[in-house]
Amino acid sequence: MTSDTQHKRHTAQATHSSPRGGVLGEESSGRAPTNQSWGGRFNQPTDEFVKIFGASVFFDKILAPYDIDGSIAHATMLFEVGLLNEDEKSQIIDGLSKILDEIKNDKFEWSVDLEDVHMNIEARLVAMIGDAGKKLHTGRSRNDQVATDIRLYLRDQVGDIIKQTKQLQLALLDLAEKETSTILPGFTHLQAAQPVSFGHHMMAYFEMLSRDGERLSDCQKRLNTLPLGAAALAGTTYPIKRERVAELLGFERICANSLDAVSDRDFAIEFLSAASIIMMHLSRFSEELILWSSAQFNFIELQDSFCTGSSIMPQKKNPDVPELVRGKTGRVYGNLTAMLTIMKSQPLAYNKDNQEDKEPLFDTVDTLKACLRVFTDMVPAIQVNGEVMRQSTKKGYTTATDLADYLVNKGLPFRDAHAVVGKSVAYGIEQQKDLNELSLEELQTFDARIENDVFDVLSLEGSLCARDHFGGTAPNQVKKAINTARQALK
Ligand code: ARG
Repeated sequence: MTSDTQHKRHTAQATHSSPRGGVLGEESSGRAPTNQSWGGRFNQPTDEFVKIFGASVFFDKILAPYDIDGSIAHATMLFEVGLLNEDEKSQIIDGLSKILDEIKNDKFEWSVDLEDVHMNIEARLVAMIGDAGKKLHTGRSRNDQVATDIRLYLRDQVGDIIKQTKQLQLALLDLAEKETSTILPGFTHLQAAQPVSFGHHMMAYFEMLSRDGERLSDCQKRLNTLPLGAAALAGTTYPIKRERVAELLGFERICANSLDAVSDRDFAIEFLSAASIIMMHLSRFSEELILWSSAQFNFIELQDSFCTGSSIMPQKKNPDVPELVRGKTGRVYGNLTAMLTIMKSQPLAYNKDNQEDKEPLFDTVDTLKACLRVFTDMVPAIQVNGEVMRQSTKKGYTTATDLADYLVNKGLPFRDAHAVVGKSVAYGIEQQKDLNELSLEELQTFDARIENDVFDVLSLEGSLCARDHFGGTAPNQVKKAINTARQALK
C-alpha cells in the first residue's frame, strides 16, 4: 500500500510542477496526450493547467488496490452473465494482478494525462492485453467505480481504526489498574471539587473510546453497501448481477437507488464525524496531560521520548505529542466541515465536486491513525506522581460535600447541611486550615451533631470509598469497572 504521506507529497507536486516536467513520467510512458477514454467528441486537447487542475491521480492512486479488486469482481460477473468469454476474463484478471504488482513495486508509470487512478489502470490494461481490456468498462462508469473504491478503502481503514481504539483502551485499562487507589482532585470549572481515583479518571476515557468504537462499527454497517451497477447514474442496459459483485467484494447490501449510489457521500461524512469525536476525546485527554505535566501541577511526568526541549530555555521539556494531537483535532474538524460543505449544494447525481472528497478523507484516516498510535505508545509510559496529587487534593476543601452528607445522615436536611458546611469552610479559609485540620470542638460550633467519627469521613480515602456504587469512584468499584471492561474488550 502507498505510504500514508505519499498522496500529500503528490498533491504538492501537482501544484508546483509542470506536467511536462516529468513528475509522473507521462512523457516516457509514450501515451497519447489527449485522454483516450473520453476524447472522442473533443476537437481541442485539454489545457495543460486544466489537466493538472482536474487530475486526481496525485492523491487517488492510493485507491489502486481497491480499484483492482473492484474490477476483478466486475469482470468475473461480466463473464458469468456472458458479457466476456473465459479467455477475456482470464486476461483481464491476470493483467490486473500484474498491474497491482507493478504498483506495489513502484514500477507503474502514473500519468496525469489519464486524470485518475481508474483511467491509469484501465489504460495500462489495454496496453498490456489489448481488446479484452477495452471490454472491462462494460456496464459501469467511473461514478459507480469510484464510489465503490472509496467504500472498500474506508471499510479497511475503519476496521484498522477500530482495532487501534481497542489497543488504546487496553493501555488505559493497564494504567487505571495500577492507579486504582491513587487520589487526585476531581475538578469542575477547573476548581478542586472532590477526590477521585486516578484509575477512575482513566476509565472515563476508556468509556469515551468504547462509544467511539461503537460509532465506527455503526458507520461500517452503512458503508458496507455496494454502489457498483449504478453505472453513471441511471443503471445499465446490460444484464448485470449486482448481488454477485456484492458477494465477491464482501458487501452486505447493495445500494437500492442508482442516483443515490453514485452521489452519496454520507458514509464518508459519518466516518469524519466519528473521527472528529475521537479527536475531540483525544484532545481533552491531551489538554489534561499538558496541564498535569506542567511544573505547577506536576501530577504526572511524560517520558522524555514523547517530549522535546526548547532551543533557548534549557529547563524546558515540552509535551509536544499531546499538544500536536490537540492541534491536529482542528484539522480533522476542518475535514468534516469541508466534506459537509462539498456536499451541501450538489444536485443529483455525481458531480466533479465529489472528487474533492478524497483528500479530507485520506488525511483524516492518516491523522487519526497516527494520533491513536502515538497515544497508545505514550499512555503506558505516563509516570504518575501520586504524592503530589494527594497533597493537591487536600487543598480546596474537596471533602466539604462529605461533611454535608455526614450531617444529612445525622438528620439535617441537605440544604441546611450545605449552609452549615459553607460556614465551616469560610472559617477554615480564615484559619488557613482544611476541614479535617479543625478540632472537634471547632467543628461542633457549626453543628452540635458532629462527633469524632467525622474525621474518617473527612479523610481523602474516606471520601473516595464512600462513593461505593456502580459508576462511582470508590476503588473497589473502579476495580469492578476495570474487570468488566477487560471482559468486554476480549
Ligand atoms: N476522479 C473522479 C472522482 O474522484 C472519478 C469519477 C469521475 N467521473 C466523471 N464523470 N468525471 O470523483
